[in-house]
Amino acid sequence: MIPETPFDTSLVAPGILAADLDALADEFGTPLFVYDEDALRRRCQEYVAAIGPDAVTYAAKSFLCTAMVRLVDEEGLRLDVATGGELHAALNAGFPAARIVFHGNNKSDDEVRAGLEAGVGRTVIDSFDEIARLEAVVAATKPAVPPTVLVRVTPGVEAHTHEFIETGTERSKFGFTVSEGVALAAVRRVVEGGVLHFGGLHSHIGSQIERLDAYGRAVEILSALAGQVADATEASIEELNLGGGLAARYLTDDPDVPVSEYAAALRGAIDAHWSGEQPRLVVEPGRSIAAPCAVTVYRVGTVKEIPGVGTYVAVDGGMSDNPRPVLYGAGYEAYVPARIAEGRPLRCNIVGKHCEQGDVIVNDARLPSGVRVGDLIATPTTGAYGYSMASNYNKVPRPAVVFLRGGEPRLVVRRETYEDLVRLDVV
Ligand code: LLP
Repeated sequence: MIPETPFDTSLVAPGILAADLDALADEFGTPLFVYDEDALRRRCQEYVAAIGPDAVTYAAKSFLCTAMVRLVDEEGLRLDVATGGELHAALNAGFPAARIVFHGNNKSDDEVRAGLEAGVGRTVIDSFDEIARLEAVVAATKPAVPPTVLVRVTPGVEAHTHEFIETGTERSKFGFTVSEGVALAAVRRVVEGGVLHFGGLHSHIGSQIERLDAYGRAVEILSALAGQVADATEASIEELNLGGGLAARYLTDDPDVPVSEYAAALRGAIDAHWSGEQPRLVVEPGRSIAAPCAVTVYRVGTVKEIPGVGTYVAVDGGMSDNPRPVLYGAGYEAYVPARIAEGRPLRCNIVGKHCEQGDVIVNDARLPSGVRVGDLIATPTTGAYGYSMASNYNKVPRPAVVFLRGGEPRLVVRRETYEDLVRLDVV
């Protein structure tokens, strides 16, 4: 990109572009997560329109708070929770248990019991140990109807994403591999146990997936497995949950893969490979709903020019509110809200305030010249896996979160205080 090119505003949700981020920073402090609530709702609606009613499951791990749970409920989505903590947050916010999908590769006895007692609509089984665990809880609690389970399958496809977030390969710790008949054995074990209701198959091949052909290959393998299930058992596959994974657009040069194209690819693959009656197609997006709808707003604290090295622009957050650059080498764009239309001749590294050289927000960023102490810097596409992976490293309080609806800001998560930082200490 030519350094003088202004920031690409198409990376920012319209409600945020229209907002006065300086005023929000003054009112709520920085760092601040600002979400365009109208954009979040439109994104949910787009998914429902493309995939169908009662078929889109929001992956809570990407961004979870009470306001988000309520939004997802109001938009009619299901909710994927992956731990007892996420389950608690969902139930605490009043989310209907019947629309909760309970994931996790190592659910404890307590978590399994909590899910079944709450009446979660589906539990996704990840191991033979978990089948036994569920059966034991059912034997002890004797629910009126057998709980519905999906069997998580690793189809053995490469998703062409970062290896830490690629989950569908045979090396994965998740689910049952299809090769060697392990997944089929798991389905048989569930069906023959006669205690759980087998509801279908689940597969999540990875996250930040730009190439839709990977889903096609997964569907092909799952269709073959479905044929084996039909031959080996009386059970039918009511539901095929293909997980989440659709990529978000972080950088100007990243592709923007429309949900409609993604839905068409999944349906096309099912039409091409599935024999017999087709199951209900279910998806589980997190990032592609939450990421594009937020920015993080920071305030510049120092600007340091090191002769022969370059310029560091240090902001008041860092790896504690966005660990993705450190964890995955993830790239972001950045802009100065008050000077959004200006050219950006300044090449710099935007860094955080943590005690590590690797604490980077944006490597080799472009900003307008003369950025100085007190300016705001916003990073787009930070709505997913930012706040949800935030930490208190260096005892930095976690930021506040604001939702904008019709231009009106609403605080949905308050900023942590220093008092919060010592609340768990026992003396
Ligand atoms: N379903 C299951 C079973 C999952 O494990 C995940 C994400 C999703 C759905 C949602 O995937 P999404 O649509 O958000 O790609 N922390 C990493 C991402 C980890 C994804 C974990 N599982 C990151 O920041 O890139």
